[in-house]
Amino acid sequence: MGKIDLHPLTIDGRDPAILRGDPITGDRYTSRDFMQKEWDHMWTRIWHVAGRTAELEEPGDYIVHDFMHESVFCVKQQDGSIKAFYNACRHRGMRLVNDASAANAFQCPYHGWVWGTDGVLQYAQDAHDFPQGNPCGTLRLKELRCATWGGFVWYTMDDTAPELLDYLAPMPELYKNYPMDTAVRVFWMKIDLDTNWKFATDNFSESYHTRTAHPQVPPWIDQDVDTARHEMYPGGHGRTVQPMRPSLSDRLPDGMPHPFDYILRQWDIDPDVYPDYETKAMQGWLDLKAAKRRLWRERGYLHYEHMDDEEITDSPHTVMFPNVTISFLPDNLIFFRTEPHPDDPNKCTFDLWCMAFPVEGQTEVESIMAGRQPLREAEMQHRAFDNGRGVPEIEGQIVYQDMMLAEGQQRGMHSRGYEDAYLTGQETRVRFFHEVLNDYLEGRR
Ligand code: FES
Repeated sequence: MGKIDLHPLTIDGRDPAILRGDPITGDRYTSRDFMQKEWDHMWTRIWHVAGRTAELEEPGDYIVHDFMHESVFCVKQQDGSIKAFYNACRHRGMRLVNDASAANAFQCPYHGWVWGTDGVLQYAQDAHDFPQGNPCGTLRLKELRCATWGGFVWYTMDDTAPELLDYLAPMPELYKNYPMDTAVRVFWMKIDLDTNWKFATDNFSESYHTRTAHPQVPPWIDQDVDTARHEMYPGGHGRTVQPMRPSLSDRLPDGMPHPFDYILRQWDIDPDVYPDYETKAMQGWLDLKAAKRRLWRERGYLHYEHMDDEEITDSPHTVMFPNVTISFLPDNLIFFRTEPHPDDPNKCTFDLWCMAFPVEGQTEVESIMAGRQPLREAEMQHRAFDNGRGVPEIEGQIVYQDMMLAEGQQRGMHSRGYEDAYLTGQETRVRFFHEVLNDYLEGRR
């Protein structure tokens, strides 16, 4: 493999020397005061994902994003742009919409005011009876800044926040080769979990847990710490780039069918030509790149057109501060997000969106988090985790294994025996995440 040019914003994600060493104490996961600080100083200042641009095709299409006690809706405009509004009637505060749909205007269910899709009041009963003057045509719903990237619709409650692309930097540049707008959300589940939202960002910021929690992964994604790249960026984001080839230190027993053999055969490579396991893992991975380069067009993998040699075989697992993780895979995107419960720091919701890049001729896709799915936009399913019983469709999947651990860790965070994390170098991003969070809470950002 050639030398990788790191983005100039990249910070070494295994070097704790660049950190202050702020302790990751249990109260950060359990305290209502801390939760309130996160709302006051962080959640009201970052960019949130409201949904997919594919949900807003026609003027009047809208999506709703409830976040803690707040609610925002985003509406497609006649000119093709998207506006975001607080979901509260300016008359006396009534919530205007509940679920995504389409509308020509929004009529408030309380006193019947009608708001245009552009947020301007169109109708109020007894419009002459306002001492302050008729509000129709002038009063507007309170608007938020809205922008798109990656096929996602984002908004921020902060008028002074950086532009979305600056906030996300350098992600838009790093992932410019992926046709993210065309990804189809083939599986969409929201799961109520009894753990603090930060569990997921912590968990997705390291692969140290993989061998224990996900023993099925090392045979096809190299989990060896020294072969991955661990990167952090000043905005609080980070990623681990792992080669999608067998880890040399995790061999399946001889005679057991190997998932890498299956991948090689898919691209016309005979796994039996390699003299030994090491050669198959290392040379087979290079041969796989070459085969994909040679065959992508005739196989209908048109999304490979602009992707580089790393992107067509490997897996950059990416956390965008504070709560969005996207696993970029050659043919899939997996979006994970946790959001806090409105009142209880011991609870959150976990969003799992499995997205696939369409391949010509394929009507089904293989999602590594949700198994085989038809290639079409999925409906959202909302479930309680219930110790795994609530989500049988994903039992045994990687993300299910993470969730099975989450609630136990949350209980441990309440213990007097837990004081601070005792981290490996490869978990540096975990403390980095908490330090960036502290920067928000303590007014340094
Ligand atoms: Fe909306 Fe009265 S609260 S019309």
